Parts: sequence; C-alpha cells; structure tokens
Amino acid sequence: MNNKLADFYREYMEEMQILGLSDDSDSFVYGHGDKESSVVLIGEAPGAEEVKAGVPFVGAAGKNLNDRLEAGGITRQEIFVTNAIKYRLSEVNPKTGKLRNRPATAQDVRANSRWLRMEMELIKPKVIITLGRVPLKCLLPESNYQMGDVHGQKLDTDMGVVIPLYHPASIIYNRELTQVFDDDFDNMIKVVKTILGK
Ligand code: URA
Repeated sequence: MNNKLADFYREYMEEMQILGLSDDSDSFVYGHGDKESSVVLIGEAPGAEEVKAGVPFVGAAGKNLNDRLEAGGITRQEIFVTNAIKYRLSEVNPKTGKLRNRPATAQDVRANSRWLRMEMELIKPKVIITLGRVPLKCLLPESNYQMGDVHGQKLDTDMGVVIPLYHPASIIYNRELTQVFDDDFDNMIKVVKTILGK
C-alpha cells in the first residue's frame, strides 16, 4: 500500500520546486521509520545534518528526541517520523555567503499543509504527535491553537488524535521549558505505548 508514499513524495517535490519554495532537490528529506505505524511524529523541517543524512531528526534536536524516546522504551523503527516541510528552510547569509536556516514563512505553511494532510491520509496513524508550532499549523490550518494553551493535550481533530508538543530544539534555546517538555513527553509516551500495545 505504501509504495504510494514514494510517488507522493516525488509529486510533492515537483510542486515545491514549481512554487519556487526550494530549487535544490538534494535538500529534501522525507519521512522515515515504519510506514505502517499507528504513531507518527511530525517535526518542522530538516536542517543541514538531516539533509546530509537524508533522515529527519539526526542533529542536536534529534538527539534530544531520540534520547527521550529511548528512555521511554520506544524506538524510531516502531514509529514514523516526518517533517511538515520536507525541504531545508535556508537562505544565503550575506556575511559569509553560506547557507543558514530561516524561519518558515506563511507561504511555506500554506503550500505544505495540503501535502502533510495527504501524507497522513496515506499512513492513517491512530495518533499524531506534532513538535512545535509549524507542524500543528500545517496539519490543522483552520485552527488557531496556541502552543502555550494546547501543549501535551490529546486533541480530537479531523485528522484523528493529535498531541502537540513543544519542539525539542526549543529546550536547547529555552531551558525553562525543559520540565514542561519532559512532562508532556512522558504523558505522550504512555499514550504511544498503549497504542503500540507495549
Ligand atoms: N528539526 C525538525 O523539526 N526536523 C528535523 O528533521 C530536524 C530538526
């Protein structure tokens, strides 16, 4: 069933290039893990490390995520990990001439929303965990959820159960969020373990 995903990602890249959102086909990183899993985790967009490896969440934020999943008894192989935006959000730093990360624009969010929802319709997970503001907005574009209000909750949505968490990079920049992130993460792990029958 999920060979469809490869065709889907090919069409997605073509559209993003036509829209001029990314002209570098090497900067695209697609979902990874068990395509049949009942559990999907969605990040924002790949960074330089992810582009190099061709796998989401392998850099510093990925280490945070992977360590916590492992501590909770969940492996990356049991779930599917993808990003709302599948190309690196980058721009040229005029001072160095090198690429640096840039924030997602409203256009990135708008263009990726439909594709993210279609990706979830192909995978049909029982629970979706979003990491940060961007995947939540892409997945539920009509909602006006604020992370401060909904983090850690189980939301009943037209995409099924969605648990929004802060992005694992946010605790690198804002240490005060660590406890909140850890508590949300522990509760999410309990839900995921029930769904995976562990
Ligand atoms: N941050 C994300 O949101 N996704 C990645 O793949 C890596 C870092």
